[in-house]
Amino acid sequence: MPSDNLIQQAADILRTSKNIAVLTGAGVSKESGVPTFRDAMDGLWARFDPQQLATPTAFMQNPRLVWDWYEYRREMVAKARPNPGHLALAELEKRAPSLTVITQNVDDLHEQAGSKNVIHLHGNIARSKCFYNCKGDPTIVDVSKIEYDKTQGPPSCPHCGRWLRPDVVWFGEMLPVDQLDAAKIASASADVMLVIGTSGLVTPAATLPELAKSRGAKIIEVNPDDSMITRIADIKLDGVSGEILPRVLEAMGKNG
Ligand code: OAD
Repeated sequence: MPSDNLIQQAADILRTSKNIAVLTGAGVSKESGVPTFRDAMDGLWARFDPQQLATPTAFMQNPRLVWDWYEYRREMVAKARPNPGHLALAELEKRAPSLTVITQNVDDLHEQAGSKNVIHLHGNIARSKCFYNCKGDPTIVDVSKIEYDKTQGPPSCPHCGRWLRPDVVWFGEMLPVDQLDAAKIASASADVMLVIGTSGLVTPAATLPELAKSRGAKIIEVNPDDSMITRIADIKLDGVSGEILPRVLEAMGKNG
């Protein structure tokens, strides 16, 4: 657990910063019951092979398996509610002149908590799109309005009749350009970047703290373990975000 003194140092940096960027990963949603990817025991990639479930080739080879796996995750995410970490970030946004959350998460727990300025780098698991983006990239389709046999894998695109797929970024795919550009701008102009619950193993998201740091931002990391970001962190707060972030907020003071 970080000392009160270290928490206060982080709070003072945040309180005196004009532009705050926040990069979040799966760890921030873990206390909401959504598993991370790389935790040794219960991480998704410890139990499932991403090459068979999260690539365009995997989907073409076995669309039903991939669709069903995302249905399983969708149901898990749909039950999840924001935890004190998400709520603290939403409160911080209310207090800060300019704050952008850049998330790698495909859930909407930041928005549910009340965060307004959220960039999604890896898509949104609740949404589906045409595998071929037949009407332009992305061709989003509301699956709840389509009748299909749920035991038979992905429904068909109402425009072209080909498969629908989840609107998430798979391995080997490009990130949405507008979201990545916005994330780079927010990172490059930040006075401080909070990096929360990410292993920092997946690029380009993992390069954003480096970009922020190279433009003079302080890096504050919140993670119970060390990550690829730890070596560039000015302050490392060891612990879970649902406990650390409310403490930081409290240390900023009521009117911080
Ligand atoms: P990872 O699973 O790689 O890392 C999760 C991080 O969260 C680890 O560093 C944990 O130590 C930390 N952690 C665990 N519990 C925490 C808690 N309660 N509070 C704070 N931190 C905690 O997840 P990501 O870094 O998000 O990509 O993974 C990056 C990308 O890899 C994901 O977006 C996904 C995956 O493949 C796509 O789906 C495109």
